[in-house]
Amino acid sequence: MDTVSDSMLAIGGFTVLYYMLKLSWICWCGFRVYVLSKVWQTDLKAYGQWAVVTGATSGIGKAYANELARRGLDIVLVSRSKDKLHIVAKEIESQHGRQTQIIQTDFTEGHDIYPAIAEALRDLDIGILVNNVGMNYSDKLVHFLDIPNPEQRTTQVINCNILSVTQMTRLVLPRMVARGNGLIINMSSEAGAQPQPMLSLYSATKIFVTYFSRSLNSEYKSQGITVQCVAPFMVSTNMTHNLPPNLLLKSASAFAREALNTVGYSSYTSGCVSHALQVGTPLIHSNIQNKLLYNVLVTLAKNEPCRIYYLTILCDCKYLGLSLLSHSTLFCPCSSLIGCAFHPTV
Ligand SMILES: NC(=O)c1ccc[n+]([C@@H]2O[C@H](COP(=O)([O-])OP(=O)(O)OC[C@H]3O[C@@H](n4cnc5c(N)ncnc54)[C@H](OP(=O)(O)O)[C@@H]3O)[C@@H](O)[C@H]2O)c1
Repeated sequence: MDTVSDSMLAIGGFTVLYYMLKLSWICWCGFRVYVLSKVWQTDLKAYGQWAVVTGATSGIGKAYANELARRGLDIVLVSRSKDKLHIVAKEIESQHGRQTQIIQTDFTEGHDIYPAIAEALRDLDIGILVNNVGMNYSDKLVHFLDIPNPEQRTTQVINCNILSVTQMTRLVLPRMVARGNGLIINMSSEAGAQPQPMLSLYSATKIFVTYFSRSLNSEYKSQGITVQCVAPFMVSTNMTHNLPPNLLLKSASAFAREALNTVGYSSYTSGCVSHALQVGTPLIHSNIQNKLLYNVLVTLAKNEPCRIYYLTILCDCKYLGLSLLSHSTLFCPCSSLIGCAFHPTV
């Protein structure tokens, strides 16, 4: 009997020790990536003179472009609208005193656009590439068969979210490897961390970005190249209907500042401590079944009172405790999707 209870005690002791060590390790990693990185920032200029940012005229891309310029890099802005490109380029030149170049292109158009981009980048010393451009296929959560104009739209999403990342990487990586130095930042999403019913194609494109980045990082790390995958939760941008920022939902500029601090500290990051804490909630890792997630999403998408309730708690910091609870218990796995899907009319 004594032997049995001693064994149980030993197993219990080891289990507690294991989880305490694991928790300590997670806390240390979080402290290192999100706190120490603020104090000892990686010198981004050391990667090279120019940073190329795709989707640079609004949201996260524009914020990255500004932050990189603030940290001393010249910026190549790549985006769709020429007018917006000129405006952002002027802003960067006047606010940060850096050089800019613009490349106007539409990433939904497929392979044909890349020779012109290659030509525009040919003579530049490119140290950093930010593969940020990305799009969703609908303002709402929809079944795959309900994607509007599906033949065209599905190809556009794949071209914009997947092809752009691989082709832009193919264009800049060879010279980075030859130099033995370079940084590629690829914008994935927490929506890619697990299957997302009602956002199937978008989330599938994002897990592509994640796996591509993490594999590439392993392949080229020894040659001086860092490939960082950033997988944010919700950031206030056009894509999320510019919901007002709060502790859970970052403004694009605050997000870019924090995310760039993590370069050199983590090759796969949520980008900021608030998003890391949301991802870190235990239920996320407890394999909530797709069926449950699906039911929650469909109910919320169809039910107006639910939609308003969600947006009220998300948008109003007065209800932060409730919001945090709802994120960490029920909505966390799909909070970004819900935010993207529901127009903030409350
Ligand atoms: N916002 C979030 O909560 C969130 C969360 C996770 C991941 N992400 C990812 O972060 C990235 C940026 O998202 P965002 O929220 O900043 O988006 P956004 O505010 O909609 O900005 C998208 C940018 O990409 C450009 N763009 C869009 N389609 C393009 C195309 N076909 N060709 C060239 N440029 C194009 C836009 O140019 P125009 O100004 O001309 O439209 C704009 O500059 C995306 O990859 C997204 O999946 C966002």
